[in-house]
Amino acid sequence: MSDVAARATAGFRQRYGGEPAGRWAAPGRVNLIGEHTDYNDGFVLPFALPLRTVVAAAATDDGRWSVWSELDDEPVEFGPAEADEPGGVDGWAAYVAGVVWALRAAGHTVPGARLAIASDVPVGSGLSSSAAIEAAVLAALVELGGLDLPADRWPRLAQRAENDYVGAPTGIMDQSAVIRGRSGHALFLDCRTEAVEQIPFDLEAAGLAVLVVDSRAPHRHADGEYAARRKSCERAAETLGVAALRDVATGDLDAALARLDDAETRRRVRHVVTEDQRVLDTVELLRAGRIRDIGPLLTASHASMRDDFEITVPEIDTAVEAALAAGAYGARMTGGGFGGCVLALVDADAADAVAAAVTAAYADRGFAAPGTLTVLPAGGATRLD
Ligand code: GLA
Repeated sequence: MSDVAARATAGFRQRYGGEPAGRWAAPGRVNLIGEHTDYNDGFVLPFALPLRTVVAAAATDDGRWSVWSELDDEPVEFGPAEADEPGGVDGWAAYVAGVVWALRAAGHTVPGARLAIASDVPVGSGLSSSAAIEAAVLAALVELGGLDLPADRWPRLAQRAENDYVGAPTGIMDQSAVIRGRSGHALFLDCRTEAVEQIPFDLEAAGLAVLVVDSRAPHRHADGEYAARRKSCERAAETLGVAALRDVATGDLDAALARLDDAETRRRVRHVVTEDQRVLDTVELLRAGRIRDIGPLLTASHASMRDDFEITVPEIDTAVEAALAAGAYGARMTGGGFGGCVLALVDADAADAVAAAVTAAYADRGFAAPGTLTVLPAGGATRLD
């Protein structure tokens, strides 16, 4: 049993006594490319990480929920009243209550349960620790309750938990990545139709690695800025008379920009439309087995986030520049922005040297040391035993 599963099991035994009925796991994610395109009905290409959150759980017949996590000493308890009231539970446990809420709102009978959560997905690093909790809890409750809910409907449900119960206006990418991700593949997702294509992304065979740098930059106003970007995109779509910015074709971009009179909105739109195209171009290259050649697209995506969408911070830009200077094929911020992680595509045998170069650049700039790890695409939410 993996360490994290053993910790969840030990937590269950210690808090509740007895054995859990099972253990369910869901991973964190990085996004290879396609940032802030999901809520514009566009394209994304994330992959699931080998870092996982595990829920050890058992059903109860009292119709209530008790959740313990390594983040806290005491379990959080709630019943239908708190679960049925968005915001009725807060903190990390809101992601659990949100899943119960979303299931009940969709008409499912959710069994009472005891849950113990352990996680290797760092919190607050932009690697979707919240989606990992949602997906693992969803997998547990669906099975414990024998609910008729196929996994392809889980991402929308988990997103609803996050949007409507927790109150974060995020898109569908994170939940899709951590639920539908497949080992050795990146998940090409059309966020309008939810159609997916598993794109082979065999880094090992190509002698490559994805280095993830955790900037450890404090998230500065991330929630408010995220919501502002989303609003700005939605207003622009309205002005342009399209359902979402996904409907602005790359070839029509200049004409669309000419119809917007505000320079900031023009930059936002340019990011989204060019980013959708970069996802499509990346997918083309990967289908042709040309992994190294996606590097410039990753770096162009970063420039677009920095200059047009304006969601990067100095620690993030420093990591990208240092990785490129040390020989990375491409590098970009991954996730919502204003902190979080950078990913760099590197030769596997150069990963340590690139990580060291980024760490040295941080020291030069007086930033706190970054975290670094290399990752391979892993599988999505699953029952462990
Ligand atoms: C966060 C959100 C996602 C997506 C990204 C930006 O991770 O949860 O839905 O919008 O930001 O691409």
